[in-house]
Amino acid sequence: MEFCMQLSLVLVLSVFVVPAAVLSDSSLSSKGVSEIPKKLLNLAQKPQVFDWMVGIRRKIHENPELGYEEFETSELIRAELDKMGIEYKHPIGVTGVVGFIGTRKPPFVAIRADMDALAMQEMVEWEHKSKNAGKMHACGHDAHVAMLLGAAKILKDHEKDLQGTVVLVFQPAEEGGAGAKKMIAGGALENVSAIFGLHVANHIPIAEVASRPGPFFAGSGFFEATISGKGGHAALPHHAVDPILAASNVIVSLQHLVSREADPLDSQVVTVGKFQGGDAFNVIPDSVKIGGTFRAFTMKSLMQLKQRIKQVITGQASVHRCIATVNFFEDEKPISPPTINHNDLHEHFRNVAGDMLGFQKVKDHQPLMGSEDFAYYQEAIPGYFFLLGMADDALGPLPTPHSPHFRINEDALPFGAALHAALAVRYLLEFPQEVPSPAQEYHDEL
Ligand SMILES: *[C@@H]1O[C@H](CO)[C@@H](O)[C@H](O)[C@H]1NC(C)=O
Ligand SMILES: [Zn+2]
Ligand SMILES: [Zn+2]
Repeated sequence: MEFCMQLSLVLVLSVFVVPAAVLSDSSLSSKGVSEIPKKLLNLAQKPQVFDWMVGIRRKIHENPELGYEEFETSELIRAELDKMGIEYKHPIGVTGVVGFIGTRKPPFVAIRADMDALAMQEMVEWEHKSKNAGKMHACGHDAHVAMLLGAAKILKDHEKDLQGTVVLVFQPAEEGGAGAKKMIAGGALENVSAIFGLHVANHIPIAEVASRPGPFFAGSGFFEATISGKGGHAALPHHAVDPILAASNVIVSLQHLVSREADPLDSQVVTVGKFQGGDAFNVIPDSVKIGGTFRAFTMKSLMQLKQRIKQVITGQASVHRCIATVNFFEDEKPISPPTINHNDLHEHFRNVAGDMLGFQKVKDHQPLMGSEDFAYYQEAIPGYFFLLGMADDALGPLPTPHSPHFRINEDALPFGAALHAALAVRYLLEFPQEVPSPAQEYHDEL
């Protein structure tokens, strides 16, 4: 303990002395600022931070909780914030926690982690396997929480050097529950001028990161339709109205929305993943249920798809004398917007990550058809989301997220913690007034 405190005092002095001097010279882009990311990485790799993060991650991994049920995860986070003396607001968005480090004055910059697990059974046999049957941290959100707490720890140690306020956003229900939306409604972005988030990536090497400016993850929506006809004897189709044939034509027609109506350069997907109807070889059923998802990179394309999916299902069903109802789950699974990275923050990310990892380790990434509810924050304020590499040949291939065999390379934790911290610290140093508030923008246009 003693040793840790002495060590962190020395580190306090060494991390920010140079940039403070640089600041007073008002020559921001000189060498001092570019040293910060590496120094923060060194701090995050110290055993007292690294081992502590690993412990937290394993504890959360053993006790996965689904969206809006992250009560014990939230309690663990608050207990750690209490120990560090970090003030926070709770609850926001049912289980969400919002912490504050720094001056409590503008500028405010946010860093975010998601807390929820998935409803699936872990198949990895290891010491810290999920103890909750049918629930698993198979998307790495346990690691995301540990990394954000790691960032909090190294930032709290240097709080007096922060040129503004770092806001820690621990959100519930990323997996289809629109937890980010609830956090925003609860005031998590109050006074915040930019937000950063990350996701662990099994396909990117450790100590590398990847992202892109503009659209990164697609937006997505879900639909389910019931197509009703009239059941009857399979040998007497003329006495029945066959919903199986109607649904089959509906599905084929839905596939024309992307192939014939969408701009080929505007990537979109419509997938029917659910087709349920009938129980017997010789009975025409009364009704059929189909369901699926649609993806696109603009809200406009998503709304267009939604409208056409409804028209095609009801129209094609009526061609076959059936009646269809379509549900888009507006309340439980609202359309999630595309994840759009702010251009200025892309430059910031490249500079900060490049200074930490070397510029050759900061890669451009293709857009992804998956979706990420970080997008809600980016609808509200400038935001930036990136992928954090975990792959290491020594560990063999890592399974994809949402696999029951999913594993975390815990060596990635210090990189995530340090990147969160460095993106925030450098933002406060370099961007104080650069991102205009909507009011200022309006004024400029006049
Ligand atoms: C946001 O700014 C206002 C005005 O300065 C202040 O009253 C309020 O407490 C701030 N909110 C937070 C979360 O710091
Ligand atoms: Zn996921
Ligand atoms: Zn995830």
